Amino acid sequence: MKVPFLDLKAQYKQIEHEVVPVVTEAMENGMFIGGPNVEGFEKEFAEFCNSKYCIGVNSGTDALRFTLMATGIGPGDEVITVPNTFIATTEAISQVGATPVFVDINANTCNMDPIALQEFLEQKCAVDQSTNQLIKQSTRSPVKAIIPVHLYGQMADMDPIMEEARKKGLLIIEDACQAHGAKYKNEAAGSMGAAGCFSFYPGKNLGAYGEGGAVVTQDERIASEIRVIRDHGQNKKYYHTMEGYNGRLDAIQAAVLRVKLKRLAAWNKTRNDNAAYYNELLSDLPGVEFANVADYAESVYHLYVIMVDDRDALQEFLGDKGIATGLHYPLPLHLQKAYEHLGYKEGDFPVAERAAKRLLSLPMYPELTCDQIKYVADSIKEFIYR
Ligand SMILES: Cc1ncc(COP(=O)(O)O)c(C=O)c1O
Repeated sequence: MKVPFLDLKAQYKQIEHEVVPVVTEAMENGMFIGGPNVEGFEKEFAEFCNSKYCIGVNSGTDALRFTLMATGIGPGDEVITVPNTFIATTEAISQVGATPVFVDINANTCNMDPIALQEFLEQKCAVDQSTNQLIKQSTRSPVKAIIPVHLYGQMADMDPIMEEARKKGLLIIEDACQAHGAKYKNEAAGSMGAAGCFSFYPGKNLGAYGEGGAVVTQDERIASEIRVIRDHGQNKKYYHTMEGYNGRLDAIQAAVLRVKLKRLAAWNKTRNDNAAYYNELLSDLPGVEFANVADYAESVYHLYVIMVDDRDALQEFLGDKGIATGLHYPLPLHLQKAYEHLGYKEGDFPVAERAAKRLLSLPMYPELTCDQIKYVADSIKEFIYR
């Protein structure tokens, strides 16, 4: 049996009868940039995320970068995030001229550890106290914002993170690129911080047929600022209040996303059913741990991740049996060459470092069959008891 890591063709076959007409219509209308599909999608996705505004952009990376720009983060500022995210999170921070700083993750959820966050912010305060005069003169701490990443489809523990942010006057920007439809105590991913950033990269729970992204927010000022930034800094054609970007969501992608959005809740439910079946088959296996779903979370299982000591050997074993797996992510960002200049070293974030060595993402998508899940689980058992 072959079990691909993702099966976008199987998904396409289900919706082809709806996708082809809307794409054809968009092409016949000649409305490729902006227009009713973009506006319609923005309205529908804002509703889905329980947010007032949605601004379609070119990618999740743009969503993060534009939000940082719109909230005034820039040179001299620091933004806290986690080391076990996709580099886009920190690229966005660096590309607005700010500096990414990391805090460790919780071993069970693989999301930002609120205790590590609190300790980090307390340490920062101690440093600030030692240079009391300077801080008072400048009245600014370099830390301006926190980007919790809702990794694998599960939201970070937002209440304590938001409480820390409130105490220190920091902004929260949610990286919800892996969490379309996820909930935290009934609150929708993207709706809790100043803004939430989404990616519609094809393999996401809501994926376009190309690049795409969106920002959702309750804040009209942030929304209108991002609308200008994504469109070359203009809010009237050829009148530019600033230099912006070519960062719009295109109309054909919006048309596809509208078709898929109608099915997203059902697809997320099927991902949960698939995860429950994996859990049932794998839960008693010695040495296998899970990136657990916390009590507060309703995960949308963008990824189904297990942790094992002999990860590389297991990945190879499964590969030989026709089962494709992934690593999200094999090397934490603080140890990447790209961030050498930040001066971190091995041992700085032990929980994230240990997870990176042990994690393995198993095939996870709504179209996965029970037989495929059983075959994956049986193969893992075979490996464990070999
Ligand atoms: C956690 C996270 N942040 C940001 C991004 C960036 O999204 P995009 O690839 O659409 O730029 C991704 C997706 O790849 C992601 O998984």
